Order: sequence, then structure tokens, then C-alpha cells
Amino acid sequence: MALYAIGDLHLSLGAEKPMDIFGDNWREHTEKLKKGFSTLTEEDICVLCGDLSWAMGLEDAREDFLFINSLPGRKIILKGNHDYWWNTAAKMGRFFLENGIDSIDILNNNFYEYGAGGEYAVCGTRGWFFEEEKGGEHDEKIMRREVMRLEASLNAAGDRKKLVFLHYPPIFQRYCCGEILELLKKHQVRLCCYGHIHGKGRRLAFNGWRDGTEYRLVSADQLGFTPVRLPF
Ligand SMILES: [Fe+2]
Ligand SMILES: [Fe+2]
Repeated sequence: MALYAIGDLHLSLGAEKPMDIFGDNWREHTEKLKKGFSTLTEEDICVLCGDLSWAMGLEDAREDFLFINSLPGRKIILKGNHDYWWNTAAKMGRFFLENGIDSIDILNNNFYEYGAGGEYAVCGTRGWFFEEEKGGEHDEKIMRREVMRLEASLNAAGDRKKLVFLHYPPIFQRYCCGEILELLKKHQVRLCCYGHIHGKGRRLAFNGWRDGTEYRLVSADQLGFTPVRLPF
């Protein structure tokens, strides 16, 4: 059993959506993802760090989910800023059941065990990012909600060694999401994977250690559309 991560699949199998607007490397990206996943086995787990489908609703996302379901291993998903199809866990669970989708689990206020005897906990939430910061009460509310979700996920994991998966980077150039960094430090989180950053912005992303936590950008184009195997 091995643990992998990749973010930002940006699938659009149910509709025409040219992806080369993201850059030439995004041409045929669904095929690249399929090839990238081909080394995983059914026993492996891959965390998908948000921005999974361009669809606006669950029904429109069906083809994308069938594709994700067809990839080897168990997939743990979290929400990205483009995931407008995202719904309550109950509705998503029902949709998966009705469509025979049996290898996708939802990460939202909860955690998943990983490793021998469940020594690790896969925790996470979407997170928050400066580009969304327009000031005002509403934004502050979303930010607080995300911090609470991450805290709920980390608390639920108890004494397990914690690995965190976010969509938004908690650190990006001069931006630091203090509340999230504090939580990662408090819970001695060993690794924090995040997505969202594509193309030229990838050069500015933080990949490295800070306060005992390793940070890694795992967006699909950063990884050449191949999930990265994590050292656990
Ligand atoms: Fe994003
Ligand atoms: Fe994205």
C-alpha cells in the first residue's frame, strides 16, 4: 500500500473545454493522467487536492467521476475553488452509489487512516488564499469556516501522525495564512500538500520545510500529470 497525491485534474469529459488555455502541456491531459495513474495498484490511496471537474453540477460531472473511479486505487477527494458541483456529503455519497462509483471518498471535516495499524491520518480541507481576499465580513467568514473544518479534521484524527491536504497554498510568496500555519504547527503535521497553482506561478510556489512541516505543490501540471508517491 502506498500513498499518492495530485491536484487539479480539471476534467471536462462531459463537455467541450479546451485546456490548452492553461498551456500547451495541458493538451490531451486526460490521457496523460490515465498514464500517470497506471503505476498505482488497487491497494494504493491517492488524495486528489481539488479542482477535479469543470462541471457546474453533479449530473454534469458524471463522466468525470466515472473516469476518476476507473483509475486504480482509492481516491480521497477534497474541494477546490472550481468545484461548483460539490454538494453535501450525503448527496455526493448517494450520487456515487447510484452511478456505481465505489472508489472515491470525501474529505470534509473528517479524516482517513493510512498505514500499518492506521498510524497516519489523512486530513484536510480546501483552505483559503489571498487572491480571494476582497475584504469584508463575508470573506472573513469563509476563512474562519475553512480553519474550523481543518481543525475538525485534525481533532478527529486523535493521536495519529497527521498529513494535511489542501487546495489553496497556505504559503505563497509573501502570503501566509497564519491561522492554518498555526494549526499545522500545533498538530505537528509532517507534510502539507496543496494545489491550485498552475503554469508560470509554479516557479513562485513554496516547496520546502517550515516549522517542522514539509510543503509540496502537487497540481497536475507541476507533477507532469503523474501522482507523486509520498514517503509514508
Ligand atoms: Fe484552484
Ligand atoms: Fe486548478
